[in-house]
Amino acid sequence: MSFSRRDFLKTGLFASAAVSLPLQRFVSAQTTLASRMPASKLPKPFTTPFRVPPVAVPFRTDEETDYYKIAMAPMTAELVPGFRTPMYAYNGSVPGPTIRVQRGRQVAMRHSNQLPARHATLKYEPYSSVHLHGSPSLPQYDGYASDITRPGQYKDYFYPNSQAGRTMWYHDHGLHHTAENVYQGLAAMYIVEDPQEAALGLPIGEFDVPMILSDAMFNADGSLLFSLEDQSGMYGDVILVNGAPWPAMKVKRRKYRFRILNASVSRSFRLSLSTGDPMTVIGTDSGLMPFPVKTTNFRHGMAERYDVVIDFAKYKPRTRVTLRNTSPKNNVNYTNTNVVMAFDVVADAFDPTNNSVPSELNPTCPTMALQVSEAVQTRRFKLERRKGAWTINGTTWDKVVASNYRHVEASVKKDSVEIWEFENDSGGWFHPLHVHLVDFKILSRNGVAPFAYEQGPKDVVYVGENELVRCLIKFEGSGKYMIHCHNLIHEDHDMMTQFEIIDPEYPAGDPFSAPCKNLPEEYEL
Ligand code: C2O
Ligand code: CU
Ligand code: CU
Repeated sequence: MSFSRRDFLKTGLFASAAVSLPLQRFVSAQTTLASRMPASKLPKPFTTPFRVPPVAVPFRTDEETDYYKIAMAPMTAELVPGFRTPMYAYNGSVPGPTIRVQRGRQVAMRHSNQLPARHATLKYEPYSSVHLHGSPSLPQYDGYASDITRPGQYKDYFYPNSQAGRTMWYHDHGLHHTAENVYQGLAAMYIVEDPQEAALGLPIGEFDVPMILSDAMFNADGSLLFSLEDQSGMYGDVILVNGAPWPAMKVKRRKYRFRILNASVSRSFRLSLSTGDPMTVIGTDSGLMPFPVKTTNFRHGMAERYDVVIDFAKYKPRTRVTLRNTSPKNNVNYTNTNVVMAFDVVADAFDPTNNSVPSELNPTCPTMALQVSEAVQTRRFKLERRKGAWTINGTTWDKVVASNYRHVEASVKKDSVEIWEFENDSGGWFHPLHVHLVDFKILSRNGVAPFAYEQGPKDVVYVGENELVRCLIKFEGSGKYMIHCHNLIHEDHDMMTQFEIIDPEYPAGDPFSAPCKNLPEEYEL
């Protein structure tokens, strides 16, 4: 693994190292940093219509369970007008189809890997592992990175959907190739609907809108440009919302609920409205916040979800409000990465029901009710780059593999509460840190309260430059689960480890205990 020019600049090693590096390196590092398509061919902001991903339809339902079949296969999408971009898709859609399920109903999903044996240009084998991010899944259905399903194989996953309503997402988690697989389209939203939430009068139906943010770069032929040259991350010069570049959405003069997911490989956002008006944050990663929070802007790391209500009632018809990105530090920015999409206010009549945000959303949220006094232990996880590798406490997933999957960075007792501290001593990069299985409460960042808009249940926390973040976590469940940075380049190289929850009464299944099978399908789901 090698340092790139950017990293040398950051660490101050550049001056001394430059002389020993061939010029070619700098030239190629430069050229990989933008689309290789003439700027005139790249899409222009607000020229494509906003659309939402299709909603998946179960092929069967019974009293308790909705059954889905999802095929991962190559497809081409028109991301840049006039160009066909080869992608990898769940059921032919980028992003993949949204799952909507009622709380308490189970979902069974058969994921079949119909991808080619080798990626046409990147040459890696696109094996998969599907993770439902935000779900308390059993270890064998959690998308364990090393539990891979190869091209020509399939695996069944089972999800309980037992927890409070929330915006989750399913995405690829295959060892060392998560970045490539997600970048090419293997990501989709998964929404748990909750009767408790339905009683609140929040916007529903066409006013409850998935918004999946990502970024991309293109080769001259319209194919995606993917480069690992800069091991710090990959930052596209085109911003996509639900797979469309900088779309424009017609909005009626009322409230909308946007379920915003940042599915970028490495880019974080700071979102705001061009009017300077506040937005109302109602939900964080793991569901509704206790109380709504108004904010004019918020920092949004990879894999974080913010449910945000925007009220367009005050704007005159034909007003254009843009969603802006005043980028957090250490992202690479281009001409139009300072905008995300536009809302064009129209005069159309609308359904006036479900057009409010109550002053209390989920005041008794159990995660937010956790108290520091309940914690039995404090652990610190240091997020750092060592000798070119991204590490957690100096270790990587390699150590887990080398131990035959026995090594754990933390072993906790079932139902215990702990304080986990995440420390990033670097000023050169940020790490959105994700703990699988659990929901947690952020206690503090550098000794002060977390941002108001983060004061809801979380499963990812933005560990910014020179930040120490403390979280309070209750560990329910049993078994081994991953902890990793959600910058997918960091995750793949190899800022990922695992913890385990010990339940003496119900020892968990091994993450490998539900093996995949060869296609064609051998049995009914
Ligand atoms: Cu969204 Cu382990 O990931
Ligand atoms: Cu997860
Ligand atoms: Cu990271």
